[in-house]
This record gives sequence, C-alpha cells and structure tokens, in this order.
Amino acid sequence: MCGIVGYIGKRNATEVILDGLKKLEYRGYDSSGIALSIADKLMVCKHKGRIVNLEEDLKNKNTESDLGIGHTRWATHGAPSDQNSHPHMCKEGKVAIVHNGIIENFVELRKWLSEDLGVVFKSETDSEVVAHLVSYYYKGDLLDAVYQAIDKMEGAYAIGVISSDEPDKMIAVRKDSPLIIGVGDGENIIASDIPAVLKYTKDVYLIENDEVVIVTKDNVTILDEERNEIERDIYKVTWDAEAAEKEGYEHFMLKEINEQPKGIKETLERRLDENDHIHLDGIKITKEELEKINKVYIVACGTAYHAGLIGKYAIEKFAKIQVEVDVASEFRYRDPMIDENTLFIAISQSGETLDTLAALREAKTKGARVLSIVNVVGSSVARDSHDVFYTWAGPEIAVASTKAYTTQLVSVYLIALYLAKVKNNISNNYYKELVKDLKEIPDLAQRLLSDTSKIKEVAERNYMSKNAFFIGRGTDVGVALEGSLKLKEISYIDSFAIAAGELKHGTIALIEDGTFLVALATQDGLYNKMLSNIQEVKARGAYVVGIAKEGNEEIEKQADEVMYIPHVRDELTPLLSVIPLQILSYHIAVLRECDVDKPKNLAKSVTVE
Ligand code: F6R
Repeated sequence: MCGIVGYIGKRNATEVILDGLKKLEYRGYDSSGIALSIADKLMVCKHKGRIVNLEEDLKNKNTESDLGIGHTRWATHGAPSDQNSHPHMCKEGKVAIVHNGIIENFVELRKWLSEDLGVVFKSETDSEVVAHLVSYYYKGDLLDAVYQAIDKMEGAYAIGVISSDEPDKMIAVRKDSPLIIGVGDGENIIASDIPAVLKYTKDVYLIENDEVVIVTKDNVTILDEERNEIERDIYKVTWDAEAAEKEGYEHFMLKEINEQPKGIKETLERRLDENDHIHLDGIKITKEELEKINKVYIVACGTAYHAGLIGKYAIEKFAKIQVEVDVASEFRYRDPMIDENTLFIAISQSGETLDTLAALREAKTKGARVLSIVNVVGSSVARDSHDVFYTWAGPEIAVASTKAYTTQLVSVYLIALYLAKVKNNISNNYYKELVKDLKEIPDLAQRLLSDTSKIKEVAERNYMSKNAFFIGRGTDVGVALEGSLKLKEISYIDSFAIAAGELKHGTIALIEDGTFLVALATQDGLYNKMLSNIQEVKARGAYVVGIAKEGNEEIEKQADEVMYIPHVRDELTPLLSVIPLQILSYHIAVLRECDVDKPKNLAKSVTVE
C-alpha cells in the first residue's frame, strides 16, 4: 500500500507531486508528506490525515523547487501520525526517502543503527531505517549508498531517495512493490502507479524487481543488481488522464459502476472474433497443454475471490473440470494438491496483492501453469504469471471494486468456455447460445443502469439499519457475498452473507423484527426454493428486499420490495445481479455520509500480509 511520487524537471516539483499524490490516495490516506530540494537543503513537510492538511501547511512555505519526493501512507508500522508520516530523513538532514512496502528485517537494522551507530529514531516506522542506512553509506555517491543500503534490506519496497548533496537526481528502487517512471521532455517522474504521471506524460518505463533507477531531468538510467545498464522499451499508456478523473460524477465509485457496460463489452470484444471463437492471443499455453489440465485452482482475495466463486460454477458447468477456489492468504499456508496438470488462476485487479502474488509463486514451485486475470498492465501478478488474461475495466480508483469485478466475471466465463471447447465438453449449440447471451450483457447492464430510482428508494428506506443479511442459492451465493462486502466496506453496516439453505443451521437465530435482508432469487431452477427461504425469514420479522429477473413476479407476494434485473439465462445472472447491490451500497453509504471512495482503514492495493 502507500503511494510514492518523485519529480525532477522544469516545473514546480511541489505541484506535480501533490497532484500525483492525489491520484494515488486510493493506495492509502492516513497521512502524506513531501521533501523538496531548496537551495541545496532538504525541506520536509508532513501531516497526519488527508492531503489537504499537507496542502494547507505548504501554503505558508517556500515550495519553489525542481526536485522532490512525496508519499501518501497506509499505516502498517506505527499509528497514523505526523512523526510516522513519510518522507523520513537522516539525522543530518542530507538524505530523504519515501517508501512503499515493508522492510522485514527492520527490527535488527534499527537495533544496529541505534545501538552501534547512535542513531536516534524519530518514528516507529520500518521505513525510517532506509534513510539512516543510505546516510551511513553515503561517501559522496548517492547511487552507491543506495546499492549498499538495499543490500542490507529484506522485504518489499519501492523507494525514492534524494540528497541535498546531489540535487540533480533522484534514485528509485523496486523490489516487489510497484514502480513506474513517467518520461517527459526536460522532466521525469517516479510513481507507484500510472495515474500519478498521466497529466504530464503517457510514456512510461515499467520498472522490474531488483532494478535501481537514476532519474535526472533529462535522463532515466535503469540498472540491474550488478549495476549494469538495462535497455527498456517505453510503454505507451493507451488511456488518458480523464479515465482517472471523476468526469462530473460525485464519486469514482458511481462513475465506475456506470462504466461496467463498456468494460464488459471491451473485455468480450478483445477475445471474441467475428465467428464467436474465443482467441487467447498473447497467452502461450497451448491447446495440447490445456487438454491435459484435470484440475483448476482459483485463488484471489476479497472481491476478486468472489469472482473466483462464480468461475468455479462456470468452469465446472461448461468445461466439466474440477475447480477449487481459495482465498490467497489461506492457500499459501496450506499444502495444496497441485501438479503440472493443474491450471492455477490468480485473479487480481491491482496485480499487486501480496497474498495473491505469494500464492501464485507457491503454485509455480509446485509445477502448476499460472494464468492470471489482471486489470493493471505490467503489475507484479501479471509479470510473475506464465500467462495473463487482461480485464479491460480501465483504471479503477474507488477502493470498493465494481467494474473490475464484472470484467473479472466476463474473463472467467470466457476462460470456462475456452476450456470447454478444448476439452470437447460442450455442445456447439450450448456454446453459441452462451456467447450470444454474453454479448447482450453490456446492453442489458446499460438498461439496468438507466433507471436506478427504485434502488435509491430501497436505500432510503434501509440506510439506518444496524445490520444486514444477504442470502441466495447457486451463483447467487457468490453475488450475495460480494453484495455484503460492498455494503459493509463503504457504509460500515455490519453485514453478513450466507447460502440461503444454510440459514436455518444457526444464523436464522439473528433474524428479528425489521432485520434488513436482501434475498437474491435470480436462478430459475432454484426460484421456488428461494421463495420458501424468504418465507422463513419473513416469519421471523425480516424486512426482505428481493432481487429477481423481470417476469418472475411471484416473489412480490413474499418480499417487502423487489429490485428486478433484465431477463438473462441463469448461468450469466451474476453479471447483472451484482449491479443493483453495488448501487444500493453506494446510496446507503452516501445517505450515511460515509467517505464512499476512501472507506476507513482500507486501501486499494493491499501489498502487506
Ligand atoms: C473490495 C475490494 C477488495 C479487493 C481485494 C483484492 O471492494 O476491492 O476486496 O478485491 O483487496 O484486490 P486485487 O483485486 O487488487 O487483488
């Protein structure tokens, strides 16, 4: 988590850095800070809380500078406070650093620096050791000092370093935490993610693990561990700055919910040819290798894990291959049954989630073929996988995932259909019908989004609820879990999802007069069973909001109110039924005056365990 930005060049570094930090706030927003090189000295300003606090303070300071580094923090070591905010400086004030990641051996380094070298630490962070290490090794060559410092460090890091003695450069380092360099004319920018540089350039270097970069205003030199220079092609960003702006929407989340038809369409169009054949261009696994696959593991975290649950239904139903789905943080500490005939699918929007990354590395060592479903091009998960299936959601800024989820769903459906064809386990007719119906989803999603007044009314009637339950059967269970996560993470309502059939095995004890309960009944084959489950909770006083397909109106007799989705075959309902749940959560959070895009305690990319 955390976002770093550094600037050197012709503009005022302060403006570029603050601008970049605002684009990276999704990575953490506990505190922010900046270090500027001014008249051969380093000036540091940092504050607990949102970037506005930093901006306010900077108004009273001289901030004219052509070199600086900045940071927005998601606290891990040490509470959010001014002292624990980055940048950190060495005691002489000659070196300043910003860091994203975790220095795993910081306790031992801190002990050595303080007990043997008399360094007095000002913060409780792991990151501060980096400033002191670089300063200790500094003998007139910043690059050399950084190399010596990282030699001592274990863990994950993207680091930006500046020194008052060398005001013509920044040094940046990457190991397991994202780092890109925006390349401009007479200016260069280091950052954790592309949106931070897009206003200034679309030319980017994607920095790889264990690389060290010297950034001056006119040059970017990428070096490997042995200090050899590396040639790297420029990556041209294809989307523009507006894609990472709110464009008139009140929140990124609402904008991203509304972008789902486009994201679904793009993800489909990139993989389907005019004959409706799925092509996996760029994916190297051969049909022969896929034919041998006898087991699929889908591993992910949070919302991406929920997409994996639907993936299990799709792959087992279409391709008739056994699928296991697991959360990455559990998978990596088990001894999973994996071999070279296992296809391991990692799903991740950011491509930087540490547990997912560790899980896929574990799967690789056991011989599995790793295919990842990723949104962020060039991210760590993408780079560490054998093959990547990119989702075409575009940048997702709101912490709560919406369009990434639906494009992940489309991706698992396409992979399931591809596997089904390779394995010869699907009839031509069924395949064609599924593809035809998939292609209609963007229009149906658009229709659903064109009138959301009913959903808003449901939100208005229920936003004061102290808790909420989501129930469903079949694929609706996965969607119930996702709906419940959306609600709890942005509105802080205590929310719980469970398979409807499981309710009476304990959880029904919690249902009382007025309990807010969302019942997903979108599966024709399980519709009557769901109606019985609704009756059970109604009998205990629940206030039931049903979700059903248009035309299935019987539910109105049982539920207090119903939100309808356009009619679509059972297999594909998750692509539509999640949308009212996203909108419901959104309106409830707004009515509760929550910070929708930046919920408390969370960050968009979770690069710690
Ligand atoms: C919830 C949410 C998270 C992420 C999870 C995995 O709205 O966004 O649960 O889905 O942290 O993140 P990625 O997909 O980046 O690996």
